[in-house]
Amino acid sequence: MDVLMDSVLRDARTVTPSLVLDFKVIKEHYDGLLAAMPGASLFYAVKANASPQILALVVERGGGLEIASLAELERALDAGAPGSRIICSNPIKNPAFLERMHHEGVYAMTADSTYELEKIARHAPGSRVYVRLAVDNRGSVLPLAGKFGVDAEEALALFDLARELGLDPIGLSFHVGSQCLSANSWANAIRTCGEVWRAAAGRGHRLNFLDIGGGFPAGHYHTPSIPTVNEIGAAVMDAVRRYIPREDLDILALEPGRGLVGEAGRLLVSVVGKARRGGDEWLYLDAGVFNGLMETYEGFPPVVRLLADDAGERPVRSYTLAGPSCDSCDVVARGVELPEVHIGDRLVFLDAGAYTNEYAAAFNGFPIPRWVALNVEAERLVE
Ligand SMILES: Cc1ncc(COP(=O)(O)O)c(C=O)c1O
Repeated sequence: MDVLMDSVLRDARTVTPSLVLDFKVIKEHYDGLLAAMPGASLFYAVKANASPQILALVVERGGGLEIASLAELERALDAGAPGSRIICSNPIKNPAFLERMHHEGVYAMTADSTYELEKIARHAPGSRVYVRLAVDNRGSVLPLAGKFGVDAEEALALFDLARELGLDPIGLSFHVGSQCLSANSWANAIRTCGEVWRAAAGRGHRLNFLDIGGGFPAGHYHTPSIPTVNEIGAAVMDAVRRYIPREDLDILALEPGRGLVGEAGRLLVSVVGKARRGGDEWLYLDAGVFNGLMETYEGFPPVVRLLADDAGERPVRSYTLAGPSCDSCDVVARGVELPEVHIGDRLVFLDAGAYTNEYAAAFNGFPIPRWVALNVEAERLVE
């Protein structure tokens, strides 16, 4: 673990719950993603963590932002992103958001239904649009399939309709699901895109934009079975070369959320209570599914460590981890093996930079984790 991160986590003055975020790690991941997929354009998925400092970092490095709402558009503009470096991959957009995107010259937006194309044509006439394909999400820990995306036939019909409505159909997007553990998921999805791309060309559409979404996983450094960004990048670039007509492709867009910021964050919590129930040992933490650990409720297995100098000497026990609120759904994980934990001990959740504070609410009065930002211009900054 980085020395500065370690000292902040072990510092008794660091209050809990806190989300400690190392900007040096975000920069390394930014460079790593683009090195693994040379020539690609990075549009950071703001939803993962909309901290203004992260957005500013991406914009300063020449990247773009992927937004889902009017509020995210405001944040992107505040961070200094021009409309030309913003895309919207949320298939469902309200009229006020569409009108504002149109006004700001947002580069392009997605659609996956005739209704959405008609809405875009009315409120953001002439926009560049890309169609979201439904692709196999089985390789991911948090699948997004079902809610969005169309099949090849419908995609072609949407391209035709977009043209009839005076829009500019430029390409395709997909999402393989969050924390995707199979590089093949991207390769297979790109192959499908290639088929649609060629069929669209046959109908007179000149596509030039391929958006391979997010899904880049965190955690290879502690779980070697999780693919590296280089392994995924190799599969992506190979599939792009094979399946997408080289002369057409102007923009290969990436929309990393977790893959950019996940590993940069660690969530520090305190154990505030203990109980034995029906043979299970329960630990109650000062952060739970409402105030920071919502992803665990969606089935994301947390990676958690005990922060104690004598951790190695304590016997290992199996615990149920729960949040502090009065709701019985506020259970973070079961069967978590940790060195024996006492009330007052501190635990740290790894890979917590994405979808923690962004998802959190202060239900029951339990606070959203405080921010601690490290290595922002090489200085420690506590907000
Ligand atoms: C359209 C879109 N793009 C990108 C992302 C970011 O995904 P991830 O954090 O898995 O990289 C998401 C996440 O839900 C998404 O819906």
